[in-house]
Parts: sequence; structure tokens; C-alpha cells
Amino acid sequence: MMNRSLTAAALLLSLSGAAFAQDTQSFDRVERGRYLSVLSDCAGCHTAPGGASFAGGLALDTPFGRLVAPNITPDRETGIGNMTDDEFVAALHEGRGHNGRRLYPAMPYPAYTKMTEDDVRAMRSYFRTLEPVHNEVVSNQLPFPFNIRLVMLGWNWINFLPGRYQPNPQKSAEWNRGAYIVQGPAHCGTCHTPKTLLGGDKNATPLAGATLQGWFAPDITTDGHRGVGSWSKDDLAQYLKTGANSFTLASGPMSEAISHSTSQMTDADIAAIATYLKDSGTGGNAAKPASLADNSNAMRVGAAIYKDNCAACHRDSGIGDAGLFPKLAGSALVQQVDPMTLAHVVLSGTRAVSTDGAPTGPAMPAFDWRLNDAQVAAVLTYIRNSWGNAAAAVPASAVADQRTSLAKTP
Ligand code: HEC
Ligand code: HEC
Ligand code: HEC
Repeated sequence: MMNRSLTAAALLLSLSGAAFAQDTQSFDRVERGRYLSVLSDCAGCHTAPGGASFAGGLALDTPFGRLVAPNITPDRETGIGNMTDDEFVAALHEGRGHNGRRLYPAMPYPAYTKMTEDDVRAMRSYFRTLEPVHNEVVSNQLPFPFNIRLVMLGWNWINFLPGRYQPNPQKSAEWNRGAYIVQGPAHCGTCHTPKTLLGGDKNATPLAGATLQGWFAPDITTDGHRGVGSWSKDDLAQYLKTGANSFTLASGPMSEAISHSTSQMTDADIAAIATYLKDSGTGGNAAKPASLADNSNAMRVGAAIYKDNCAACHRDSGIGDAGLFPKLAGSALVQQVDPMTLAHVVLSGTRAVSTDGAPTGPAMPAFDWRLNDAQVAAVLTYIRNSWGNAAAAVPASAVADQRTSLAKTP
């Protein structure tokens, strides 16, 4: 009895063998497409907080004004159900949307253009399998003249170099994989590469740090003072996987990139990114400025504020507590040229990213109700110039600017 049903099952399997093999092949392709969409963090922009996956709606503040990421589920009326595969490829490789209209570079096609065509088509296979969601999104909420898509013709002409990633034969396969992920799908430079006035990447200084939406995405080159030169590959991997390491905890836009994207990457891909970042050939050694003298006014005021408000968590010597409170001594983030992120963190506080690797994120309290602009500036100047740190003093006006812009974004 048992034998017979087994034989029947075996027969059925062998009969459907061909179709079965094809199915697993397309399953593998869809799964590969899903993973590529994680590497690329498509959900990070195309999913509104609390909304259906990929149904659009996240508003992005760009140098030109406000743009909303559209619905990219296969819905025929409001999504990309009517888009052909070639149009999908053109959106990612050339920045052309429905009917060839020019897309704004808030959609990171200047990075996705580096992806192989096969990777983009695998992603397309995955997007086809999604549940269509009916959700009308008005993408373009930009003011005149930026609401005219033709303006993008000019922008593209100046800033956009289409073209696939070219492997470097001098480097290992792992290095090339890392370079591909960083420059292509994971679009790290979209946030970390300094921008021109028009919002294009300054390609001569990749990953050297940039301001975005009230945050500062720090220098992640091998520069020993401002970059992550002092981090080991394991430190980098731990940060990308869990959002925390013995130096720091991620907050703001990076904590979102970590929870949607890097924390879900395979260990091999994370290791490849770390290998590339440690050997990206960028980042010199920025001359370290002299620390401010301890007896300057800002330093004395700052020291007193630090002792009362900060030392309980970050410790008197700024060493923090691994995995709980970031180290301020020797921190590249604390010594960044642009103190924007620092003022943001101290004024509004943050909650560190929560990932499977590090479940509960500890919180940094807000001080906006407690410290005025001059006091925040003094304590920042103090942490930027203590324990061997050295960076320019923070003017109270920079804190005031940050306070004003935070008041505008709820
Ligand atoms: C940083 C935010 C961001 C990320 C990440 C992002 N997009 Fe977009 N995307 C946008 C915005 C904003 C637009 C609308 C641009 C415009 O209207 O000019 C857009 C437009 C598109 C369009 C064109 C839709 C149409 O109707 O013409 C497609 C297709 C698309 N994105 C797919 C993707 C895919 C696939 C990924 C991941 C590989 C992705 N996007 C990642 C922000 C993003
Ligand atoms: C959406 C914008 C965005 C993207 C995309 C992004 N980052 Fe970040 N990144 C930031 C911001 C902002 C910070 C500062 C975080 C903070 O203040 O805690 C940061 C911090 C970091 C740090 C910590 C640096 C330090 O000195 O503390 C590393 C390392 C890093 N990012 C690597 C990457 C890599 C690698 C990628 C691509 C896989 C990437 N980032 C993609 C915005 C981004
Ligand atoms: C209750 C504990 C606590 C107190 C008090 C506190 N912090 Fe923090 N701080 C944290 C935690 C936790 C983080 C990490 C949060 C995150 O990344 O989301 C943090 C992050 C920071 C960062 C960002 C560093 C990095 O690597 O991400 C700076 C700068 C900072 N704090 C400065 C201060 C200053 C200045 C004060 C006093 C005005 C202060 N903190 C008071 C807990 C505290």
C-alpha cells in the first residue's frame, strides 16, 4: 500500500519533472529579485510609514522641493502594472518613468544605473509577483520651475553618467562585489557623497560626507580622522548588520537604511562591503586641526553642561558603554566638519535602530526644552575638543538654524 502510493508519487514527480525544474528556476529568480530589492532598499522610499508595501507615499525633501515616491505595485491604474519590462529597466538605468518622462534623481537611478541588466530584470520578475494595491500618488509637488520635468534634461546632462559597473580586474571578487553593492544597488553615495549645488554627486570625492534632510551622513572613507579609518572590517560589518558597534549607534536615515536593507543582507555581502570600504582608494588623511584650549569660554561652559547632562551615560572620559551609549572620544561623527547631526541629536534626541541582532534600541533624551542654543553649542564644542578630539567650535547660530528647521518638520 505504502509502496504503491510512493511509486505513484514518484511517477507524478518524474512526469512533471520538466515543469517542476522550470518552476524552481523562476522561483529562484523571483527570490533573487526580492533579495536585490532589499539590497537596493526600494521599500525605504516606496512604502509610506504604516502603508502597504511598495504602494508609494513617502515624501522626500530634495534640494528642489518635495517629491513623493510613487506606487510600484503591479496595479494597472495607479501602480506600474502597465509598465513593460524594458520601461522598468529604463527607469532604473536611465531615469525614465512611464511614457519616457524624466524622473527626478530623488529616485537613485544615478546609482542603479550601475546594476547589471540581469539583476534589474530579476527584480522586475519579483515586482510582478506582488499583490496590486490601488493607491493614487501625486509624485510631483515641486514648486515652479522644478516641477517641469524638462528641467531634468539639463540636470541629467550635467550630472548623470549612465553605465553599468565595470569590475576592477586588479581586485578580488569579494572587493568587486562590495564595490558593486556600494555604488549600485545600496546607493550609499546617494547620502554619503558630497553634493553640488544642483544636488549631483561630487564624483571626485566619493563617500566623503554630505548633509541631507537635517542630518549629516558622515565621511565613510578610510580617512583616519574624519572617516572610518580606525574601524576594522568586523566593526563595519557589525554596524551594518546590527546598527551598533563599540564606536557608535546608528540613528536617523542610517537607522532606516540598516533596518530595511543592510541588516537583511547576507553575511557574505556585508563582508564584501566592509572589504571595499577598507580599500576604496578614497579619503586621504585630513589634517587634524588643533584642539581648542581648555580654558576658552565655550570649553569651560561646555564642560559644566556635559558633567550635569551627559556624563551619566557617555561617561566623564567620553568612552560611553559598548552597545548602549556611543563613544564620543575619538568618534568620527562627533568631529565631522558639519555639526548638523550633532545639533539634531542633542535637540531632539533619538532612538537607536532596533534589529534582530540588537533588539531594543537605547534612547538619547531630547534637550531642546532644557538647553538654549548657546548651551547646546558650548557642549558640542566641548565634546568636539576633549579626550583627543579636535574640530571647529560650533556657533550658536548653527544650533538655532537646526532648531528652526526641526520645528518645521513634525
Ligand atoms: C531614495 C528614494 C527612492 C528609492 C530608494 C527608490 N526609489 Fe523609485 N522613485 C523614487 C521617487 C521619488 C520617484 C518619482 C520620481 C519622479 O516622479 O520623477 C521614483 C520613481 C520610480 C519609478 C517610476 C515610476 C513611474 O510611474 O514612472 C520606478 C519604476 C521606481 N521608482 C522603482 C524603484 C525600484 C525598483 C527601486 C529599488 C531598486 C526604487 N525605485 C528605489 C524614490 C526612490
Ligand atoms: C538614506 C541615507 C543613507 C544611506 C542610503 C546610507 N547611509 Fe550611512 N549614514 C547616513 C547617516 C545620516 C549617518 C549618520 C548616522 C548617525 O547620525 O547616527 C550614516 C552613518 C553611517 C556610518 C557610521 C559612520 C560613523 O562615523 O559613525 C557608516 C559606516 C555608514 N553610514 C555606512 C553606509 C553604507 C556602507 C551604506 C550603503 C550600504 C550607507 N551608509 C547608506 C545616511 C545614509
Ligand atoms: C540617558 C542617557 C543619555 C544621556 C543623558 C545623553 N545621551 Fe547622548 N546618546 C545616548 C544614546 C543611547 C545614544 C545613541 C542613540 C542613537 O544613536 O539613536 C546617544 C547618542 C549621542 C550622540 C551621537 C553619537 C553617535 O555616535 O551616534 C551624541 C553626539 C550625543 N549622544 C551627545 C550627547 C550630549 C552632548 C549629551 C548631553 C547634553 C548627551 N548625549 C546625553 C544616551 C544619552
